[in-house]
Amino acid sequence: MELVPLRMEFAQAMAADGPNDAEVDRLTGTHATFTLEDYEAYIERTLNDPNRYTRAITEDGEFLGEVVLTVDPDNRSAGLRIALWGGFGKGYGTIAIRHVLDHAFTVLGLHRVELEVYAFNERAIHVYEKLGFRREGRLRDALLWDGVFHDAIVMSILSTDNI
Ligand SMILES: CC(C)(COP(=O)(O)OP(=O)(O)OC[C@H]1O[C@@H](n2cnc3c(N)ncnc32)[C@H](O)[C@@H]1OP(=O)(O)O)[C@@H](O)C(=O)NCCC(=O)NCCS
Repeated sequence: MELVPLRMEFAQAMAADGPNDAEVDRLTGTHATFTLEDYEAYIERTLNDPNRYTRAITEDGEFLGEVVLTVDPDNRSAGLRIALWGGFGKGYGTIAIRHVLDHAFTVLGLHRVELEVYAFNERAIHVYEKLGFRREGRLRDALLWDGVFHDAIVMSILSTDNI
């Protein structure tokens, strides 16, 4: 597994139909469908945004997912987002999040990293808690999926937390 800067050529893999698309859409609460052009525009925007730190998660050069920090420099804070398109449960998510937390706290000097995760996403919550994220609160009925409402959990980790 390698963590590499996002590249325009990954748009193809992002747009391709994958076996886990429906599951990943549900886990990330993604209602929209994106075209190749949408992904290309997204990569272009991301690469030009000084307040984004993005790493592609790859295996043998193949794009598997991405991890993104969206930095709020005024508050020395960042939002974290991660999604693998495949290759779950092989430790890649843990490695990728460890890397961006190290980047956030050590390189960027941030104080807080926050995220939201749906309450049903037990694998993600396990990984976040293992890495030191704490639960801060619950956004009730934040996601409407197939006619059912689900809560989201707000989690964060601070540079001063004992982990
Ligand atoms: C969430 C995600 C980033 C985790 O990355 P990953 O590479 O699959 O996870 P890892 O292999 O590093 O770790 C998985 C851990 O979860 C545990 N786990 C797996 N399924 C679980 C479940 N249903 N409940 C609780 N723990 C679970 C594993 O035992 C393992 O624990 P360990 O590290 O203590 O041994 C990845 O699965 C993913 O991108 N999923 C799809 C999109 C998504 O959910 N994104 C997050 C949205 S907030």
